[in-house]
Amino acid sequence: MKKFFAVLLATVMTMSLLTACGSEAAETTTEETEAVETTEAEATETTEATETTETTETTEATEADVAVSDALADGVLTVGTNAEFPPFEYVDDNGEPDGFDIALIKAIGEKLGVTVEVENMEFASLISSIGSKIDVAIAGMTVTEERKNSVDFSNSYYEAVQYVILPEGSDIATADDLKDKAIGVQLGTTGDFIASDIEGASVSQYNKAVDAVNDLINGRVDCVIIDKNPALVFEGKFEGQVVAVDGAQFDFEPEEYAIAMPKGDTALVEQINAALEEIKADGTFDELVKTYIEE
Ligand code: ARG
Repeated sequence: MKKFFAVLLATVMTMSLLTACGSEAAETTTEETEAVETTEAEATETTEATETTETTETTEATEADVAVSDALADGVLTVGTNAEFPPFEYVDDNGEPDGFDIALIKAIGEKLGVTVEVENMEFASLISSIGSKIDVAIAGMTVTEERKNSVDFSNSYYEAVQYVILPEGSDIATADDLKDKAIGVQLGTTGDFIASDIEGASVSQYNKAVDAVNDLINGRVDCVIIDKNPALVFEGKFEGQVVAVDGAQFDFEPEEYAIAMPKGDTALVEQINAALEEIKADGTFDELVKTYIEE
């Protein structure tokens, strides 16, 4: 915030200076106009220098020459999530998005000196909203080559794997057993992509993961493929009705979660990575893991 106002002040001062020069130079020759332009260029340089200095002060881990992303210029980081994915994001008792990811991005916002505003939306809409409705997305989102065509990712902050949720007593136990089965997934997730590749499987896509689990309990699907930690939360929530099985048993590969950002905004990637590093180094990250994931 401090940084933002300093930059604003510098910009306003520069602009009034330019306006003054501009009116004096109202009836000028080409030579004089060029002189005004030069002043403008110098003024821009000054503004940039101010930004850099202030950023260094706010974010210790930020290198002196790291640029400031335009996405942060308004002092607000608008973050998209899909709060249907406990413990990473869920709606709390007051109707507000909370969870590990929400706490993490708020801590990042604090390091960067910006206010974090969270927009809860469908998971499948997140990527296309980045750069327009939202600045970034944090949603237990797995880094994939396909997604990298549309967005840039931060350094990864969590390792995951898909799990298989089964009704208590199910005899599904290997990758082979998943063939020709009715599989529930959350729409547009890596669980969805994995299920769609299974031979003969009929995949039911849900907007909310919990609806897939409810259909598993109702017998409408044979299993649900979803990330490890949410699977464990659902196993606890529907104790005695479902069990969560490690995807390694089904040959599923490990996945990495990262924050998704507009493609090409290198300044933003660097700023967010620097803040993430700091949060890991100062113990905040481990605290959040304890509070939200290992509780
Ligand atoms: N890790 C999976 C993916 O990236 C699932 C993420 C779902 N996240 C959520 N907030 N609903 O596709």
